[in-house]
Amino acid sequence: MEWKDALLDIIKDSGSRVRFGEPLAKHTYFGIGGEATAYIEVSTVSQLAALARFHRQWEVPVAIIGRGSNLLVSDTGFNGIGIRLVGELAKLQVDGNVVSVGAGLSLPRLSKTMSRQGLSGVEFALGIPGSVGGALIMNAGAWGSSFGDVVTDVTVMTDTGELVPLTHAEAEFEYRRSGLDAYFCVTGATLRLEPGDADTITARMQAFYKQKVETQPFAEENAGCMFKNPPGDSAGRLIDVSGLKGHRIGGAEVSTVHGNFILNIDNATAADVLDLVAYIQQQVREKTGISLQTEVKRLGFDD
Ligand code: EPU
Repeated sequence: MEWKDALLDIIKDSGSRVRFGEPLAKHTYFGIGGEATAYIEVSTVSQLAALARFHRQWEVPVAIIGRGSNLLVSDTGFNGIGIRLVGELAKLQVDGNVVSVGAGLSLPRLSKTMSRQGLSGVEFALGIPGSVGGALIMNAGAWGSSFGDVVTDVTVMTDTGELVPLTHAEAEFEYRRSGLDAYFCVTGATLRLEPGDADTITARMQAFYKQKVETQPFAEENAGCMFKNPPGDSAGRLIDVSGLKGHRIGGAEVSTVHGNFILNIDNATAADVLDLVAYIQQQVREKTGISLQTEVKRLGFDD
């Protein structure tokens, strides 16, 4: 039996729908990339466990797409199963100042709900359009805060479908990385937030958002910051002083607002983006001596 038939078999009574040949461009903020062989929105832990076992048994690659806000998909697409976590895997439960979140929940929704409830700690996240799972894996952050700072525990799933609780230390949070991508999937986390006045927290959240809108592009399709900041400096500043703002290759352009953003301004391909990345790295190295490392995750490439 081919794996696609086997997949239909395990999905058929689950309430999930499989789409074959799904264009991933429409599931990413970059709006770039070919098709995934299969795409499934998974709403329960038991379905996810079945897919973990399926992935192991059939040796079919699986990628958790999240909300696609920090992702570059190759022009030839992804030869495997793309998954988005919804339903019980995107839950939000509040118990005092302890908040239980599913990996599929969006960060802006978390940020808004917490500010309304008078809980502080995730005000920085309104302007980060990713999922909780992506924010955990990348230790996403802005304005001096990182998501890992408010996390007490993380739950991951292994490729045998078992849930494993990890402590904050076991998650190995560092600047824009963690040890969590070693597992099949991150399913959720527990956060400890600081109780406070809802209006003050909301005002702080809105002030961060205003700062983002004033200093970063938001109208054009992009995947957030393309490069990690080198220690003690800003990749955006280095790209700026290297004279690269507005530089264009194919349909991809370095933002004129903030140098660390690459914009899809005119049907850019993933190849355009990677050519521009390589050009920026070469120019910045030549002009400043610094080697920039990319932050955006890639899917469907050979390396
Ligand atoms: N700067 C320039 N030119 C530019 C961009 C920045 O001169 O084109 C200067 C700014 O004027 C400022 C300094 O560089 O003096 C730092 O800039 P900014 O405050 O915008 O911060 P950043 O270091 O460039 C980081 C994060 C962002 C996050 C902002 C705000 C990384 C790679 N970037 O940018 O995160 O939103 O701080 O806190 O860590 C992301 O991770 O995707 C991301 C966008």
